[in-house]
Amino acid sequence: MFILELGSTKQINSVIIDFFRKKHVKDIVWKEELESLEVQKELLAKTVNSKLVLECHIDISYQRRFLKCLMHYLDTINATIDETLYKAFGRLYSGKEEKYYHVFYPIFEIDKLDSLTEVNTIILKESINIISNGTTGLITWQASQALADWAIKTSLENKTILELGSGVGLAGLAVSSLTPCNKYIFTDCHSDVLSLLKYNVKHNCDEILVDEKNPEEDMIFSGSVKDCKVEVRKLDWEWLREGICNEIGPVDLIFAADVIYDEFLHLPLINTIRMFLENGTKAAIIAFVERNEETVRVFREKLATMDLKIKDLEIVEPNYLSWKTPPIIHIIEVTIH
Ligand SMILES: C[S@@+](CC[C@H](N)C(=O)[O-])C[C@H]1O[C@@H](n2cnc3c(N)ncnc32)[C@H](O)[C@@H]1O
Repeated sequence: MFILELGSTKQINSVIIDFFRKKHVKDIVWKEELESLEVQKELLAKTVNSKLVLECHIDISYQRRFLKCLMHYLDTINATIDETLYKAFGRLYSGKEEKYYHVFYPIFEIDKLDSLTEVNTIILKESINIISNGTTGLITWQASQALADWAIKTSLENKTILELGSGVGLAGLAVSSLTPCNKYIFTDCHSDVLSLLKYNVKHNCDEILVDEKNPEEDMIFSGSVKDCKVEVRKLDWEWLREGICNEIGPVDLIFAADVIYDEFLHLPLINTIRMFLENGTKAAIIAFVERNEETVRVFREKLATMDLKIKDLEIVEPNYLSWKTPPIIHIIEVTIH
C-alpha cells in the first residue's frame, strides 16, 4: 500500500481525494478556502505536484481538466490564482498521453475522512481504453470495487481465496492488504492481462518469492502483501486441466467480479466453480453489475440447472472504496447442494 498525505487545511481533503479518485471535475465541490494562495499551493502540492503523481504516469488529460476547473472556480470567486497553478498547467500541456497510466484507489472509511491526515492507497497500472488487445481485463471494473468493499467488512481470517478473472487485481490487493486472510490467488487467462496483473501485484507487494519471466508458466508470481501470501497464476476456465485443484491446493472461497457478461463463458466459468466446490471450497462469491437483465437471468438459471444453490447477499454501498451507483451491483454466494 502507498500513502497519500492529506492537507493541513482539512476543508480541502475531500478535493484531494476526489482528484485521486478521478471524480468528474464538474462534480467536485471546490472550497472557498481556496481563495487563499497558501491553500492553493497546498492543494497543488498534495495532488498534481505530489511526489507520487510526479513519479507515476497518471492520466494527464484528467490532471489538465482538474486544473482547468479549479482555475475556473477561482475566477468565479474573483480569487488571485497562484503562479504554481499556471506552471503546473504549462507542464501538463507539454506532456504526452500514454497508452497505460496509473490509477489510484484510496481506501478508508468514508465517514472518517475529516479525522485523517493520510490515507492508504493502491496504485494500479491500467489501460487508457476500456477494451484493448481483445480483452476487457486491462482496467478495473466497478464490481471489483464492490467485492473489495464487501470483503473488507467480512470475516476472512486465515482464509485462502482463489479469484477467477482477476483483471488488473484491485479486489485481491485490497483484500490481501486490509483483511487477515492467509492467501490470495489471482488468476486470469489473457497473456496481456496476466503481465499487467503481475506488474500490479509485484508493485503493491512487500516480499517477492517467485517472479517467472515466462508468461506461459501456470504460476508466474508469488510473494506476500503484509502477512498474506499472494500468487498470480494462469487459469483459463475453457481449458481446465484435471488435477488443477490439487496443484492450486486447498481453497476456502472463490471470488469473481464482473465475469458473467458473456453468455458463452457461463458454462466454462460454472464448471470451474463447481470443480472447486466439489473439492472442498465452501462457496463462490460473485459480484456483477446488472447491465443486461437477460444475461443475469440466464446465468442464474444455468447455476440452478447445474445443481448449485444461489443466495443473494446484501447490496453494498460504497464505504471503503468509491464507485458509481446506479447501476446496481449484485453479490451472490454460490454453494453446492
Ligand atoms: C470485465 S473483466 C473483469 C476484471 C476484474 N475482475 C474486474 O472486475 O476489474 C473480465 C475478466 O475475465 C477474464 N476472463 C475472460 N475469459 C476468461 C477465461 N476463459 N478464463 C479466465 N479468465 C477469463 C478476462 O481476461 C478479464 O480479466
